[in-house]
Order: sequence, then C-alpha cells, then structure tokens
Amino acid sequence: MEQALYGPDGFYRRPGAGPAAHFRTSAHNPVFAEAVARLLLRVDERLGTPARLDFVDMAAGRGELASGVVRWLAAEAPEVAGRLRTVAVDLGPRPDGLPEAVEWATAAPSGVVGLLFANEWLDNVVCDVAEVGADGTARIVEVETASGEERLGAAPDAGQREWLARWWPLERTAGTRAEIGLDRDAAWRAAVELLDRGVAVAVDYSHGAADRPRFGTLTGYRDGHQVPAVPDGSCDITAHVALDACAAALGSGVETVLTTQRDFLRDLGVSGARPDLALASSDPLGYVRGLSRASAAAELTEPGGLGAFGWLVAFSSC
Ligand SMILES: C[S@@+](CC[C@H](N)C(=O)[O-])C[C@H]1O[C@@H](n2cnc3c(N)ncnc32)[C@H](O)[C@@H]1O
Repeated sequence: MEQALYGPDGFYRRPGAGPAAHFRTSAHNPVFAEAVARLLLRVDERLGTPARLDFVDMAAGRGELASGVVRWLAAEAPEVAGRLRTVAVDLGPRPDGLPEAVEWATAAPSGVVGLLFANEWLDNVVCDVAEVGADGTARIVEVETASGEERLGAAPDAGQREWLARWWPLERTAGTRAEIGLDRDAAWRAAVELLDRGVAVAVDYSHGAADRPRFGTLTGYRDGHQVPAVPDGSCDITAHVALDACAAALGSGVETVLTTQRDFLRDLGVSGARPDLALASSDPLGYVRGLSRASAAAELTEPGGLGAFGWLVAFSSC
C-alpha cells in the first residue's frame, strides 16, 4: 500500500489533476469550503483572535479546500483573512493555479494556532489486513502486487493482536477480516501534536465498534470507478477508518467529539433546503443560485453518502 500510493511510481505521486481526476470528495464542493471557513471563524473566536491564525489543509490533494477557504474569507471576513496563514500539505510539488495566499508544504508545520483539517487522509494511511484462516486463527494478508492475488501470511504481531482485541475482535469464521488501524492512530496523534492551540478535524469514511464490517472495506478507485485493490500504483487503495480508535489514541488529555458530517454541517448552518419559490419571479438569478447551493449542500449532508462520513474533532489547549 505504501509503495502503491506513495512510492516513486505511486498513485499519489503522479503529476496531473490529482485525486479529483479519480473520485469526488467534499473538498471539491464549494459549500464545504464555506462551511470549513465558518468553522475556522469559530476557532478564531475561541482562541481569542490570535495575531496569526493558522489553517492547515492536511493531505490537501491539489489544495482545493485551502483555495476555497482563502477565497471565501477574503470576500466575507477580510480582517481574519489578513491574519491568516494557510498551509496546504501534500506529497508532490505545488499545484498550478493555487492562490498566492496558500503556502504549499510536503510536511505539516508545527506550532499551529488555529485549525488543522484532514479530509479523506486517514483512509489512505497504510493499514495491514488480518483475515481468519481455515484453522480459525487470524493471519496477515499478503498481496501479489502485480495481480492483487492474496494469500495468508504470518500471525499478527503482539501490537497488532492488542489493537485487534481492543478495537476489532475477529470471530473464528474463516474469511472474516479486520483492517488494523495502528498507523492511522499514530498518524492522527502526530497531526494533533502539531497544534500549539486549536482544533484538529479528521473527516473520513468510518465505522465504530458497533458496526465494523465483517469482511473489511479495502478497495480501489480509478477514473471514477470502484476497482479491485491491486497495489500496482494504478489505483487508489483505501479502507474505512476506525475513528473511535484514532480518538482514543490521543489520550485522555485531549477533548474529542465524534459525530457525522451531516450533523456537524447542519450545526454550521449548511442546509439543503430549497430557496423560497417566490424568489423565482422577483430574482430569477438569485433563485437559480439558491437552488445550486441547496443541491451542493444536499450532496454534503446526504445520509447515505458524504453526510454519513465521520467527523473526529479534537480540541487542544483551547
Ligand atoms: C483521498 S486524497 C484527499 C485529498 C483532499 N483532502 C480531498 O479531500 O480531496 C488523499 C491525499 O492524502 C495525501 N497524503 C497521504 N499521506 C500524506 C502525508 N503523510 N502527508 C501529506 N499528504 C498525504 C495523498 O497524497 C492524497 O493527495
């Protein structure tokens, strides 16, 4: 997975349009950028309007979210935009067309005072898969990288067994699987530690202890289609995230909230309600704009789609 996504010929190392060429995320929806900008305004208030307010778009793709947030704040909250340092973090070179106000970095800065936001990052952080074999014991799945053919290898090591026992206990039924979230937990802990004061948010496909998928979720995406997870660099490789485990990895000193995108965005005022029909005759253009906004909001809050994504919110010294 590491080589297939991030190696020299890895899926995420390719030049071009980036993830947006293969699948759509919330970051490609303009209403999302506005909502995240509104969240940043709340964080700013909570921090007492610091002289420098940071917005870190972690695992930024081509910086779509960072660009949207910067543009919205410049138009709607210029005083805050004047104090804002925006850093988009991803592995490749700076994408063309990124607004000048967005810094580009291949590693996230430390000492962040503000909001660190990671949309669909953790599902791309590598994970080992354990599968129960015919003898009823768990083994780590090994993959032939060119064909995707699988076989069962060694037993999980002690750390993996501990994680499985706590977060994703396997039945003894052959073929049942678990995706071991140790690296996601560590990645998230390290990201939150970059905050001096502020809020970190991880948004992702997720599951909790009560609804782990029996056969796992590992899959591939290419050109807008779900494809087998062949780790040859030709497709995205992703698995849903045990966000409850990521939350616990922060330790008891960090306050966390785990909710859904639908609920969080509704609280930020994102609504898929249609504009008043009377507007259609008094301001037809305004009505069309309102409809388009409502449909973008509906995409983000749809209970069977993006609205079901998990939002893990961590508050650090604020
Ligand atoms: C599914 S894409 C999401 C992109 C964007 N956040 C969005 O929502 O459209 C995952 C991104 O995570 C990036 N990524 C993975 N690990 C990373 C790391 N350690 N540092 C920076 N970026 C990383 C990949 O390069 C890829 O662009």
